[in-house]
Amino acid sequence: MRGGAWHAHGPMERDAGRLLDCLLPLVADDRPWVVGQLGQSLDGRIATHTGASYYISGWEARVHLHRLRALADAVLVGAGTAATDRPQLTVRHASGPSPARVVLDPRGRVPHEGPLFEAAPAGSVTPPTLLLVGWDVGPVGGLPEHVSALPVDTDQDSGRIRPQQVVTQLAEVGYRRVLVEGGGVTVSRFLEAGLLDRLHLLVAPMVIGSGRPGLSLPPIDTLDQALRPRVRRFACGEDTLFDVDLRA
Ligand SMILES: NC(=O)c1ccc[n+]([C@@H]2O[C@H](COP(=O)([O-])OP(=O)(O)OC[C@H]3O[C@@H](n4cnc5c(N)ncnc54)[C@H](OP(=O)(O)O)[C@@H]3O)[C@@H](O)[C@H]2O)c1
Repeated sequence: MRGGAWHAHGPMERDAGRLLDCLLPLVADDRPWVVGQLGQSLDGRIATHTGASYYISGWEARVHLHRLRALADAVLVGAGTAATDRPQLTVRHASGPSPARVVLDPRGRVPHEGPLFEAAPAGSVTPPTLLLVGWDVGPVGGLPEHVSALPVDTDQDSGRIRPQQVVTQLAEVGYRRVLVEGGGVTVSRFLEAGLLDRLHLLVAPMVIGSGRPGLSLPPIDTLDQALRPRVRRFACGEDTLFDVDLRA
């Protein structure tokens, strides 16, 4: 195996080969990375207008997501996802350790309840949860032992946090491989900032027709301004995984 290319010395099942094709770029060397993921419908929606997103993606796509989590040091979601989904963000449908869970919550609006704030049952490890909150939120108290809050700078006018600053702060606490798991706003801001090395778009054969959009970037006037990254396609059960290489 070299730089993500591999060679088998014996017979190998086709599915195993596809899996290596897909995931080796993320483990072939010790490089840090930032990977975005979104599970979306054919019309580019990641949830209905009420926020319902379980389950746009099929079983195989969910397994893929859990594999990505297992390869990451940290999995990051925006405040919208943390508040709406109350996710666990642990590895349950693949083998491997659960990453640290990071919530981008500039206004400190995410309720401190639900799985991210609960200790795992006795005998299992509770992954740390890190809240990235704006300085003006002030000290965040009363958190369980596995949860901490880190203040980050926000832009005075827009209230935005620079994704580069997030990546730097996470690297400083040892999280060098980061999965930006959603939602659309958060992944889009990392993409816009040029910080995603790859984007794994899992497209389900479903039309939602309205609701929360996946990617959303500032308007462009002509198509020559569109991103045209190198893309590999993998069948993922009924879904299609588009592995978008934003560094090629
Ligand atoms: N299908 C999927 O793959 C998938 C994955 C994840 C989530 N979802 C669904 O998507 C929906 C939520 O997605 P969403 O796009 O509405 O929201 P989101 O991306 O989860 O969260 C957006 C919010 O996070 C904060 N944020 C993110 N990036 C920031 C930055 N650079 N600077 C400052 N603040 C930042 C802001 O919080 P404030 O609003 O507090 O300023 C922003 O409004 C939910 O319904 C969830 O179920 C689907």
